Amino acid sequence: MEKHRGRLTSDGIRIHEAAEFEGMRRAGRLAAEILDRCIPLVAPGVTTGAIDAAIQAMVEEAGAISATIGYRGYQHASCISVNHVVCHGIPGAPIPARGKETVSRSLEKRRADDVLRDGDILNIDVTVVVDGWYGDSSRMYIAGTPLPAALNLIQVTHDALMIGIETARPGMTFGDIGAAIQTYVEKNGMSVVRDFCGHGLGRVFHAPPNVLHYGRPGTGATLEEGMFFTIEPMVNLGRAETVVLMDEWTAVTADRNLSAQFEHSVGITATGCEIFTQSPADRFHPTY
Ligand code: MF3
Ligand code: CO
Ligand code: CO
Repeated sequence: MEKHRGRLTSDGIRIHEAAEFEGMRRAGRLAAEILDRCIPLVAPGVTTGAIDAAIQAMVEEAGAISATIGYRGYQHASCISVNHVVCHGIPGAPIPARGKETVSRSLEKRRADDVLRDGDILNIDVTVVVDGWYGDSSRMYIAGTPLPAALNLIQVTHDALMIGIETARPGMTFGDIGAAIQTYVEKNGMSVVRDFCGHGLGRVFHAPPNVLHYGRPGTGATLEEGMFFTIEPMVNLGRAETVVLMDEWTAVTADRNLSAQFEHSVGITATGCEIFTQSPADRFHPTY
């Protein structure tokens, strides 16, 4: 059997055949199961390194492969992004402190360790490969008791992803998805991160198109049945700008205010879209 079936659009977006949805379902289900099994692990006093080690063990137990270990030199089975970390937080590394940096990146402040504290909010992002298909999902978790503003941020970010997913069907454009997300987030007085985006995926981790979480209706490529991609909005309580720290992975908000993210891998069907990374325990949202 040839490696790739289907065809590419003029924008380089792969159109997958109906039979290929099954591969994405299996990969997506494993990613979601692993994220479900992280729920009881998150608590004050637990290290992000221990959570990542548990995730790596779950990937191995399933006979799957971590897509992130070895990806561009990354060495972990997850990204764990705490508080004002926007994405690509490194599990096991001391957690960036909330203090504003003043002079240079060499003065980056971090906690002494990677121990979660009461009130921390965090995103765990896992990508697995099952029989060559990629399942990529992330969601928010809460250690202990969060601030009301943090809960509000999580709610708006979750709902922004779901509004994006509701917009995803044949005939709509990627700009329609971005515009729907951006409009909702800004109506709630928050900002959408521009520096990172969703992506096509399938038998590869990152493929065309870039799925922007902002934009203008009617712009960008038109969605077609058989497209597989992620939607993964990052939403900030303050300004949208981000800074990448010296480790060259950890992205934080420039103003050190809180950030949240949710991610699903989806496939466009004849009439709408299928979520490959649906939580088997129906626990995608951290509080209900
Ligand atoms: N899972 C991330 C995404 O949503 C990518 C992580 S790449 C890593 O695309 F190397 F940082 F793990
Ligand atoms: Co992704
Ligand atoms: Co991801």
